[in-house]
Amino acid sequence: MTIFMRAYDIIKKKRDGAELSREELSFLISAYLSNKIPDYQMSSFLMAVYFRGMTDAETIALTELMLASGSRLDFSDISTPKVDKHSTGGVGDKTSIILAPLIAAMNVKVPMIAGRGLGHTGGTIDKLESIPGLRTDLSIKEFKDNVKGLGFSIISQTDEIAPADKKLYSLRDVTATVESIPLIAASIMSKKLAEGLGGLVLDVKVGKGAFMKNIRDAGKLASTMVHIGNAMGVKTIAVLTGMNQPLGKTIGNGLEIKECISALRGKMPDDLKEVVLTLGAWMVYIAGCVTEEAEAPRLSERMLMAYKLKLIDFIENGGAFKKFVEFVDAQYGDPGVAFKPDMIPSAARVKEIRIPAKGYIQEMDAEKAGIASMLLGAGRQQAGDRIDHSAGIVLNKKTGDYITPDEPVAMFHYNDETHINEAEEIFISGLQVGDIPPDKKPVIIDVVI
Ligand code: URA
Repeated sequence: MTIFMRAYDIIKKKRDGAELSREELSFLISAYLSNKIPDYQMSSFLMAVYFRGMTDAETIALTELMLASGSRLDFSDISTPKVDKHSTGGVGDKTSIILAPLIAAMNVKVPMIAGRGLGHTGGTIDKLESIPGLRTDLSIKEFKDNVKGLGFSIISQTDEIAPADKKLYSLRDVTATVESIPLIAASIMSKKLAEGLGGLVLDVKVGKGAFMKNIRDAGKLASTMVHIGNAMGVKTIAVLTGMNQPLGKTIGNGLEIKECISALRGKMPDDLKEVVLTLGAWMVYIAGCVTEEAEAPRLSERMLMAYKLKLIDFIENGGAFKKFVEFVDAQYGDPGVAFKPDMIPSAARVKEIRIPAKGYIQEMDAEKAGIASMLLGAGRQQAGDRIDHSAGIVLNKKTGDYITPDEPVAMFHYNDETHINEAEEIFISGLQVGDIPPDKKPVIIDVVI
């Protein structure tokens, strides 16, 4: 017997805090995908979820339904472990571009489907597209061939992968319903579970520049995603990392690629290095656990250090850099960029940003720095906006550094000066300066397993 369902009743049920059945969620997702439910009703449903949350059963059902709306890649013909990492989104977060070639150099396959930046956060795909000629819209066949041959590939979300998430994410983005733990968890996991992975390491950002502003919410998001991943047969762990200030020394696409190239040649700022090595150690470790039946146990400090040293070896012996060069070539980019990063287009103008204060930077608000970079042209305010790959910010100073009015804190790179004053104002409003050095906060906050 078919049960008659209406979007109205499902919205009302969620609004009133009741648990939805899998059938109700399935009806909603498939009717929305086939345009039988309008955006206004779906928006209303998303807002009800934002306020009421979802039970674990609802979140798992939603993830499975979004995953099933597209295809799941089959890499069963590759016997080497396949592992990916995914970040919940941050400012200056370029770790994927360093980690994918590094982990592939260690003979672990990395099939990575990445996203674009939106609002104040950046996206791996936009960063990569600042490399002349490089394409991220490969066919699934090319993607698979590169993963098999080269060891990794990074492509943008195709229409075949979790199309329900693609449609829902655009709606969430304009209806203030992104920052919901079950919606973020289902969105990320539906895409990641489509990659045919054995293991997954999640970088859950926490702080001013992240969707999760406090450790409690970030921990809940992490454990929700770890639970979904493991329940669906992918060994999953999450690392909570700090996003109060931008990661590394650059924000903006081309500038970040230049920083990645120098990282792959062994030069990394401390905070970026700590995040890269920690996530990388977990990726290699989880790859080793993929073939075992049991859950991955916690990695001891001694083992973690041993993996980090191994990763450093693969940077120092040029293995990671070589993989990056091969990747650029395989994805139709100009591999010369790796040797001459100046081939990446630069902005026509550079402005020094100074503040009339002396002292130690107590805080550099990552969200405000991300918005400033977006206003310079590096990001989009709305999905579909064009971005300027050469725009962005180079940070000369970061939290804990001493500044004087004579030294620029940052350099703004831009071509279009329309929003330069606003960008400067917002960036400076995110800086706090004091007489004594602030306590050093660890960038690695916790691991959820
Ligand atoms: N990244 C995603 O892919 N989805 C979200 O909901 C948030 C960040």
